[in-house]
Parts: sequence; C-alpha cells; structure tokens
Amino acid sequence: MEPIFLSTAKDTGGAVPLIPVTTEELPDLLARNPELWRNWAEQNDFRAESGSLLRIPATDGTTAAVLLGHEPASPHWVLAQALEQLSPGVYRVASAAVDADALERMLVGWGLASYRFERYRKAGKPPPQLVWPDGVDRTRVEALVAAQRLVRDLINTPPADMMPVHLADAARELAEEFQAGLRVISDDAALEQGFSCIRAVGAASAFSPRVIELAWGRPDAPHVVLVGKGVCFDSGGLNLKPGNHMRLMKKDMGGAAIVLGLARAIMALALPVRVTALVGAVENAVGSRSFRPGDVLKARNGKTVEIDNTDAEGRLVLADLLVRAGECDPDLVIDFATLTGAARVAVGTEIAAFFCDDEVLAADLQAPAGYWDDPVWRLPLHEPYRHLLDSRVADFVNSSSGGYAGAITAALFLKEFAPAGVPWLHFDVMAWNTRARPGRPKGGEAMGLRAVLGLLEARYGQGASGPA
Ligand code: BES
Ligand code: ZN
Ligand code: ZN
Repeated sequence: MEPIFLSTAKDTGGAVPLIPVTTEELPDLLARNPELWRNWAEQNDFRAESGSLLRIPATDGTTAAVLLGHEPASPHWVLAQALEQLSPGVYRVASAAVDADALERMLVGWGLASYRFERYRKAGKPPPQLVWPDGVDRTRVEALVAAQRLVRDLINTPPADMMPVHLADAARELAEEFQAGLRVISDDAALEQGFSCIRAVGAASAFSPRVIELAWGRPDAPHVVLVGKGVCFDSGGLNLKPGNHMRLMKKDMGGAAIVLGLARAIMALALPVRVTALVGAVENAVGSRSFRPGDVLKARNGKTVEIDNTDAEGRLVLADLLVRAGECDPDLVIDFATLTGAARVAVGTEIAAFFCDDEVLAADLQAPAGYWDDPVWRLPLHEPYRHLLDSRVADFVNSSSGGYAGAITAALFLKEFAPAGVPWLHFDVMAWNTRARPGRPKGGEAMGLRAVLGLLEARYGQGASGPA
C-alpha cells in the first residue's frame, strides 16, 4: 500500500524529537537534559498538563525538542494536537517515552490529524512529517487511518459528485484493491422485485438507486454483515426539509461510508472473518415520481409499510437491506445510519447512539470504544413503544406521530426486519464533526468505526482470512 499520510523521510539526524511526557515524569526528564531545558520549562510555566506543548530551542535558535504534555490514559490525540501546532518540518517520536499500544493510538491520531479534504482546493501549507518509529506495525496503523480517511472523503464530497453511482464506484475500487466480490443492482426491474422500498425512496431522483453488495473472506469464517444507509442527499422528499435542516444532508450517506470504511479496515487487516457490506444508495428527491405520504410499500420480507412521512426514508432503505442480510447466513449484523435527529437530541453530535438486543455484544463494545476514544452510548429497544408504529392499513407506519422517542421507534422499526436470533447492533450516528478538535477536523467523520473494529478484533481475533 502506498504510504498515505506519513513521510518516508529518513531520520538523517535532523528530525526534531517529540517527547510525550506526564506531569510526574517531567522533573526527571528535565534533570536528564541540559539545564536550558529546565530553565525554559520554568520560564514558560510548562507543567506537562494534558494537551500542553513546549518547544525547546537549541542554542542556535532551532528546535531541540518539543515536549508534549499528556496523561497515559488518553494517548489518542497527543500527536494530533501537536501536528496542528508544529511548523512544517521532519519530526520523530521519542518512542521510549510511551508503551507500544499508546504509541499506536498516538500515530493513528497523527494520521487522522493530517487529513485534508483536497478534492476541490489544495490545502495551504503541507503538514509536518513524521519519521516512522521502531516497534509499531506500520501496515496496521495505515489500515486504520486509511479506512477513516476514506469515510471522510466519501462524506465530504458534495452530493452531485457522490450520488449512488459514485458510491458504487467507491465500492468497486475497494473490491479491486482487495479482490473482493462485488454485486451492484441498478436495474429498475430488479430493484422493484427485490428492494422495492429502496426503489420507492429513490424514485424521484434522476440519479437512480443502487444496491451494493461487497463480499470478502473465506466461506467458513464467521460472517459479519454490515449494512449502511446511503442516502446521498436527503431533501426530505415531499415532506420537504426546511433549508437549515437540509444544509448538511449530503452526509446522509454517512452510514454507507462508515460501512465501506469498516470493510476496508477488515480487509486490509485481514481479520479472520467473512464480511459482506450491504449499501442502499439513493437520493431522497422531490419530483412527480416521489413516493408520497399515504403510500403503502412492501418490504423485501413482504411486510407492508404505510408512509406517514417521506423524510423517515432511512429506515425504509435499511428495512430491505436487513432482510437481505438475513439471507446471507450471518453470525453478526451491524448497521450504521444517520437515521434520526432524535438520536442527536438524546446524545448530541459527538456520541454514537447504538441499540442492541444482545447483552454480551452491547457490553463488549464498551472496552474498544474507550480504548479508541470513540464514544458510544446505548439506548433502549423499548418494546412497549412498538405500538407507536401501528398503522390502520399496513403492518407498520414509517414514522410515529407523537414526536417522542424518535430514535427508539426508528430502531424498533428496524428490528422488525433484522434477522431473528442473530446478534444485531444498530448505530444511529451524526457522521459529521460540527466543530474541530485535535485529529477530528470539521466535516465527515467515521463515528463508531474504531469501536466496532476493536469489537470485531476482540470477538474474532486477529489474523489472516484472505480473499475467498
Ligand atoms: N437523515 C435524517 C436524520 C438526521 C437529521 C440525522 C439530522 C442527523 C441529523 C432522517 O432521514 C430524517 O429526516 N429523520 C426524521 C424522521 C422523522 C420524520 C420521523 C427526523 O429525524 O426528523
Ligand atoms: Zn429524512
Ligand atoms: Zn435521512
């Protein structure tokens, strides 16, 4: 794989050391170095508090070292924060200062911080370069970073350039790179036959829907089926969104992007699983062919859905795909979607809300979410609210009228289509950073990806599966 974010710069002795240091370690570090270091730290009142940075000058005015204050429990954004403050140049991490696990997470943070969306305008100054440290698996770090950069690129790309056909192109590129199987259904008759909810949601758009199936791994390996909402633009349909609610809706394919990114990471790391990524790619547009409030659709499992609101389109896309997932003999089904505004009201934009009816699976997500600083929060699949989906003419309505528990009713709707008896995780995510933080620039974001990848590694172990 091409080095995608780290320089291939060799340390010819000129790389400036970046030294992560805790408040407790600081006195010892200063004592072991020239007196100038201690004086400079005192002059600048540097106490190695988490997130603080001190550039130590050499006597000739160049930089002798950069001290990075940090807490051992949260190494994630130490280098990311430094990258944003350092001037261009070549740096190296004083890797003896941290253990290998922490260093790996710091390097992933660096890779995420060096991300720029440059499709339409090149970024100004080049990011600082890092010499690769000893003792860290470069292929692994690059796999983790590349997956998340792919997700960001897909989400950040404007809707006219990221329509269903483009999502299918992105899947095709992945399939070619990793020798995965790919099936793209675009034929209208085939969609009407097998994915009529997806077809209905995408009916008004000149950019016709695609159902994308990417498959990789040995047939005998545990089968993880990923499902992604790929609404390339969500105008709301005939239940048109007001302008301010529509403004960010190019990111409504964020679930699809995260699923493709996860598949990329799984393949690049050669996890010993079989993975199928199912994406429903549509534009929810307005036109004379739009599906309408009051229409009744028939999902892939034969269940009928009365349309109460054309803006609750994501669950319709996922319904067909979840039924399809059940036909793949899955061991685990995970879906990602920018599904409800209500999930954002509940946990805000920076936490991935998830639903799960398997206690072990839900509990297993906590450790990797913490390890990777990829926050998740479980919401309840509260069955007594099921009645909110009752319809007078069909099996369900697609949206409840009351306005309460919107994320939960959406999840309960999905549950009607998810394969019975198979562990299932449903993520309702923002997929967008509304503010910049170290390593997390404003814009598209792979929320939940690191947590789920860590979960899969813990559940199925690391190692080679390889293409089928
Ligand atoms: N894509 C939106 C949900 C969304 C909105 C996600 C804002 C993230 C930020 C979804 O298709 C939608 O419009 N949902 C409606 C559902 C309602 C009509 C039942 C919503 O949340 O308002
Ligand atoms: Zn919508
Ligand atoms: Zn939507």
